[in-house]
Amino acid sequence: MQRIDELLRAMTLSEKLGQLTMTAAGYAVTGPIIVGDSTAAIRAGRIGSLLNLVGAEHVREMQRLAVEESRLGIPLLFALDVVHGYRTLFPIPLAEAGLFDPEAWTMTAREAAREAAAGGVAMTFAPMLDVSRDPRWGRCAEGPGEDAWLGARFAEAKVRGFQGIDLAAGDTLAAVAKHFCAYGAVTAGRDYASVDISERTLHEVYMPPFEAAVRSGVAAVMPAFTDLAGIPMSANAALLAGWLRGRWGFDGVIISDYNAIAELCRHGVAADLAQAAALALKAGVDIDMMAEAYRQGLPVALERGLVEIADIDRSVHRVLELKRRLGLFDDPYRRGSGAPGAAAGAAQEASRRHLARSVAARAIVMLKNEGVLPLPASGGRVALIGPLADASAEMRGPWWGAADPDGHVTVAAGLRALLGDGRVLHAPGVEIDGDGLAGIEAALELCAQAQSIVLCLGEAAVMSGEAASRAHLDLPGEQRRLAEAVFERAALQRKPVVVILFSGRPLIVPWLTDKAGAVLAAWFLGSEAGNALADVLTGRIGPSGRTAVSWPRAGGQIPLFFGERPTGRPANPADRFTSKYLDVSNEPLYPFGHGLTYGAFTLANLRVPGVPVGEHETVVIRVDVANAGERTAEETVFLFTHARLASVVRPLLELKGFAKIRLEPGQSGTVTLLLAAAELKFLGVDLAPVFEPGEVEILVGPCADRSRLLVATIRLVTQGARP
Ligand code: NOJ
Repeated sequence: MQRIDELLRAMTLSEKLGQLTMTAAGYAVTGPIIVGDSTAAIRAGRIGSLLNLVGAEHVREMQRLAVEESRLGIPLLFALDVVHGYRTLFPIPLAEAGLFDPEAWTMTAREAAREAAAGGVAMTFAPMLDVSRDPRWGRCAEGPGEDAWLGARFAEAKVRGFQGIDLAAGDTLAAVAKHFCAYGAVTAGRDYASVDISERTLHEVYMPPFEAAVRSGVAAVMPAFTDLAGIPMSANAALLAGWLRGRWGFDGVIISDYNAIAELCRHGVAADLAQAAALALKAGVDIDMMAEAYRQGLPVALERGLVEIADIDRSVHRVLELKRRLGLFDDPYRRGSGAPGAAAGAAQEASRRHLARSVAARAIVMLKNEGVLPLPASGGRVALIGPLADASAEMRGPWWGAADPDGHVTVAAGLRALLGDGRVLHAPGVEIDGDGLAGIEAALELCAQAQSIVLCLGEAAVMSGEAASRAHLDLPGEQRRLAEAVFERAALQRKPVVVILFSGRPLIVPWLTDKAGAVLAAWFLGSEAGNALADVLTGRIGPSGRTAVSWPRAGGQIPLFFGERPTGRPANPADRFTSKYLDVSNEPLYPFGHGLTYGAFTLANLRVPGVPVGEHETVVIRVDVANAGERTAEETVFLFTHARLASVVRPLLELKGFAKIRLEPGQSGTVTLLLAAAELKFLGVDLAPVFEPGEVEILVGPCADRSRLLVATIRLVTQGARP
């Protein structure tokens, strides 16, 4: 602390603004600015942090310049988007959310942090916590899905994983909770578009994951590119200074998104860079990523009296404090040095790969299975068809850290490893997004030679993630033609077709899921994708993933989510004037939480306390689960609540818990779910939290399909009212 104050006193304005400046290091650029050589600026103390520099030796060299050749020797902060891995990639967050396993979420973040820190990285722009209910928005791939409560659990687990127990340890990363706030609600799912939602929705749906991240001690927060009801988030003093810093007590660093401060001019709230810089700084943004707004604009803003030096000092203090917490002042080379010996390195790599394989297998969601999977163990060959069957680079999905395009296990490689080369025949058929049809015939010929047919279809990795909104959520290119030709041929030969669907979002392909004998949602599973898929296809591992988003059956249903509020005119097929479509059901094709297993589970005997429950009590909920199937399998049980009568209309279902149980064939067991009654508080008429007495439904079951939930009722009482 003292050292930071001393440093601050010694710094020139230019050095202070340097600490508030993050520049890209010419490796990957996600915005409009291409960066040149930064070395002179580092020596001059005009850069405080670098993004996108990959490779421990490069990091070391830049750090050496800062520490040894700049006047004050303040170490640089190196940041990268380590979203789902650094070199070893884990499943994309949307897929990983579907594990419903906080420990696993922590473990992958921990491993990603270790690997990235060994590469010299000190900060990751993750976790991405944008609740998203619109699969047109490509960035839904990067986040935890459609639910706020799930997002909050994901946030806690990820912050814990990235940051570890002690941020100063050499194997941790400062996490950045992004993008604050409501970026997932961009108009019509179009990236970067304006956001306009109610205060209630903001606080009930979009803010909770961020609050959870702050409570977990997240080091930094990144405001969204977007405006919220007319106030761009990079200048949103009410939410940044008011809620984030004020109400939640966040005293870490706020770092702008790429060029976002300069974009305040484009939004139309700032006339020039100086005004943009002043708006952002005053709102509480400490670091300017790539806009040159602080370095160029703040001296002018100071002259104009738009900011004071104390505002700048406050931000510099926060940045230096983060560097201190990361241990950078004690040892600027802590991350990125001390590479393990060859044997230890190989062992670490193997255990990381092992984790990646098991998490990837558990992220696979079996959407449909008409007794086709697992593939028959005996002899026959597999015709592996489709442009994603042998595409290493695509397995990475959006955001691949420092991972090369090669070396990610494809389905072809994974299946060959388990079944032997001779049993796997492969033809791509078509390109992912091309218009050529020439390969279809060759693909069809494979059908006759095989016992099983597996079609690997979907999006390219770059079709989701940033700047990847899509209006048509069908298969790109000529994949539908390929699939239809294969279905036709397979039907003639009476062979079922298994479809593996790769995507960063739910694709709207009812025609496909209709005809397939089995469908696996593979999302993007990362470096071990093919091994994990082979594990599940062959039954070596049973599928247990659950979708963290509702799968629409038609684009017109979007936004589609289970937490809708009831209407005064609930859908009724016999009554035209009720809430429904003329041409499609209201229901998703697959509800949130859906995911089949190789077992056959039934739930029964839901037990809740019969006595009234006070605000500070914990409700113990029990349900019996039985596996009547022929294989050991893992079931996920969800806990939802619904207050039928309240001062504010409550959503039809609110997620409040989940649990897993693994059962052998014929075995049964009991799942216990704990619900803190305080979790039943909601925002009242005036948006202040209230705990209202009355009846609350407890709904427990395998997914968010109401018709499949067991229901019981508890009665809440205000403290003291209990007899
Ligand atoms: C822009 C993206 O919105 C953000 O998520 C990312 O962290 C930065 N670019 C840096 O790559």
